[in-house]
Amino acid sequence: MGPVKIKDNIYWVGVLDWDIRDFHGYSTPKGTTYNSYLVVDEKITLFDGVKKPFKNQLIESIAKIVDPKRIDYLVVNHVEMDHSGSIPDIVDLIEPEKVVCSPMGKKNLIDHFNRQDWPFHVVETGDQLKLGKKTVSFLETRMLHWPDSMMSYLTEDKILFSSDAFGEHWATSERFDDQVDASELFAHAAKYYANILLLYSPLVQKLLAKVAESGIEPVMIAPDHGVIWRKDIAGILSAYGKWSRQESLKKALIIYDTMWHATEQMANAIGEGLRQEGFDFKLFNLKYNHRSDIMTEMLDAGALLIGSATINNGMMPVMADMLTYMKGLKPHGKVGAAFGSYGWSGEAVKQISETMREMGITLVGDGLRVKFSPKKEDLERCVELGRLAARKALEQKTATPLPRD
Ligand code: FEO
Repeated sequence: MGPVKIKDNIYWVGVLDWDIRDFHGYSTPKGTTYNSYLVVDEKITLFDGVKKPFKNQLIESIAKIVDPKRIDYLVVNHVEMDHSGSIPDIVDLIEPEKVVCSPMGKKNLIDHFNRQDWPFHVVETGDQLKLGKKTVSFLETRMLHWPDSMMSYLTEDKILFSSDAFGEHWATSERFDDQVDASELFAHAAKYYANILLLYSPLVQKLLAKVAESGIEPVMIAPDHGVIWRKDIAGILSAYGKWSRQESLKKALIIYDTMWHATEQMANAIGEGLRQEGFDFKLFNLKYNHRSDIMTEMLDAGALLIGSATINNGMMPVMADMLTYMKGLKPHGKVGAAFGSYGWSGEAVKQISETMREMGITLVGDGLRVKFSPKKEDLERCVELGRLAARKALEQKTATPLPRD
């Protein structure tokens, strides 16, 4: 896809990756985009590169606007390889006057590519760079998504090149938020937040506060993935506020794997208990649901019931996968319990409870175990566990406000 003019002398020159289906553990059934932006002024400036295999497409797109060798400045907002993989080839081709990056950006670029000879121009929050008529202001956003991350703001045009923040993994021929279906857009944005930024939620809150205090009022937010926000900037900022506070609804997730359907029967009975307390619940059999879709649902869930049969003195393998992924993303403010059936040793429930405790989940009891198949009284205990988890989640929601930005 060729370049798209987003404003006078400002172009999207990114690429579409229709085929990627896994982004470091996150399922991307509709591909993704790697966005680069070209600003034509007295100093011609390229903001961000693309994933290495797409380098030629980026260069061809730029060439439809200007000879790539005329580019003066290359701004590297983020060093992760989906953006920087093409940077060594781009630098060799365009021989820029400046490679602009944060202090950690310089360090990480050297650590990745071992090119101390590049003409680094290190910027920190508040620094400005004149391009001619246009001015770029920089804002370091450490850990959103890596320590090197920063954003670049075109002051006169009020365009924020936001790097990973406010993005979506979604390949579309449309380039703006008002050209796509809003509900699908926000679903992609939520999945991206839940799987990329959730663990940095306190930093997202600080960023939102910093943007509000700075008085900048972007008319476009142009991330490095997905579409450009120009119509519903307030909507995506508000969504980031809500997601970063991890505001929960009367909603529970029952996440499980089962061997011979006994743990599944328990899951259904727990759901009945949640329903009796007015909670919506969703069952996720890990054989059929991807970890990254479950994380998206977790954004606004108050209670998590996590179950596994015991196999070979431990939990089912997909449950270990789920818990490892979930623990890294640090969901906050949840109530939960472990459950599962067993034959003779039954370690899985204890192991899941321990991991949930390590994650800071408020546990309701020590976990519910049932030997082989659940009897009527076992299922009644499951219903009661669901009711208890729902009541505790409501109590926690009322008594312990989640952190605010
Ligand atoms: Fe899109 Fe953190 O890279």
